[in-house]
Amino acid sequence: MANTAQLSIDGTTYELPVIEGTEGERAIDIRKLRAETGLVTIDSGYGNTGSCESAITFLNGEKGILHHRGYAIEDLTSHSTFLEVAYLLIYGDLPDEEQSNAFIDDVTRHTLIHENLRQVFLGFPLNAHPMAILSSMVCSLSAFYQDQGNATDSAEMDITIRRLLAKIPTIAAFAYKKSIGQPFVYPDNSLSYSANVLNTLFGVPCEQYEVDPELALALDQLLILHADHEQNCSTSTVRLVGSSRANLFAAVSAAIAALWGPLHGGANQAVLEMLNEIHESGGGAEKYIRMAKDKSSSFRLMGFGHRVYKNFDPRAKIIKKTCDRVLEKLGVDDPLLEIARKLEETALHDDYFVERKLYPNVDFYSGILYRALGIPTEMFTVMFAIGRLPGWIAQWREMINAPDARIGRPRQIYTGETARPFVPLHHRPKSQ
Ligand code: CMC
Repeated sequence: MANTAQLSIDGTTYELPVIEGTEGERAIDIRKLRAETGLVTIDSGYGNTGSCESAITFLNGEKGILHHRGYAIEDLTSHSTFLEVAYLLIYGDLPDEEQSNAFIDDVTRHTLIHENLRQVFLGFPLNAHPMAILSSMVCSLSAFYQDQGNATDSAEMDITIRRLLAKIPTIAAFAYKKSIGQPFVYPDNSLSYSANVLNTLFGVPCEQYEVDPELALALDQLLILHADHEQNCSTSTVRLVGSSRANLFAAVSAAIAALWGPLHGGANQAVLEMLNEIHESGGGAEKYIRMAKDKSSSFRLMGFGHRVYKNFDPRAKIIKKTCDRVLEKLGVDDPLLEIARKLEETALHDDYFVERKLYPNVDFYSGILYRALGIPTEMFTVMFAIGRLPGWIAQWREMINAPDARIGRPRQIYTGETARPFVPLHHRPKSQ
């Protein structure tokens, strides 16, 4: 296959290199385009722009494939654990037994946060969104670990990575406890990562909280499903912020802010709110389907559509199965699940959605599962953030260590006023 592309501009032909990834994806390398032609490319929303070469995650949106470091998401959710997948994403291979034990031990022993950080929590209003708290508190970690956040030396980087993985569930749970006025519950190092998440969220100091192992397993699977998704909005944020050599805590804090938006991770909360609204208005999905299709309305069917998946979202398939299993075990008869099924069924047979290849995405069913696990709606995106953290770290680490690492700095095409003379204040006409 051709390894160059030709571009003809104003009668001159330029040769541009074509590069190919290990799964056969091809890209035209335009790195020298401006220097050679004076032109830049434009691509709003970066839908057609490869921002980096990456060996972490492969996805094929047409075929519904998602692989991390070569392993299929179906295998990872069936046979692995969240911490093992975190190790895989960050370091490139599954750990051997010794590496695995050491990694789990390290993450387990860094779960406490500095006691002074508790004072910071107390300053937030009771009704603060937990994503606001999470983003602020993760950034605050850079005030407590001032050198390590900038670390590119591998030993220091390793400890920073373990700290972040260990402390984020503690911070998330404290944010929740603060919002409901309950005392903070300290992590329990005898529990697994996901069991500990449930314990710090739902435990209280006055009685023993028994973590249901099946629910901890379902949560672990959910976290794996969210662990990485190549160059999405929040991951691109980590890379962009990190490219200025801002510290890892600051870069992850920015990624949490990006994830919060309803078009990205915030969609899981938005899905639940939409299903609730449909339920409260009598359960008819048709009106919402109509609104989603109406171009004069800004309403979108939350949990539907994806920039990359144009067939199905493999994560949604896995979650749907887990969701059925957990609801059955808990004996939950959730009317919202019924509405979700009806909505999915209607949309999948509606020309508008079929033509635009709009399928349920990961957020469509994750909210129902979080709800069944007892996690409140406002915490859904926080759970997504806990899950996505290994991916953010892996992508940041890859970016920092890349031989061609440069600060991220896109160009633009200016469409404003051309040069005009400055008018002193007393000579300016009155604006209308
Ligand atoms: N409901 C109704 N119409 C939609 C929807 C939707 N959910 N999603 C896309 N469309 C339409 C859109 O109006 C456009 O129509 P037309 O061609 O007539 O102008 C067409 O489909 C293409 O949409 P787009 O906005 O160009 O697609 P995009 O790739 O820029 O956006 C998306 C992708 C995920 C932001 C979008 O599908 C959406 O807003 N979905 C709802 C929010 C959501 O569920 N987000 C979670 C995404 S998955 C997890 C994650 O990333 O965190």
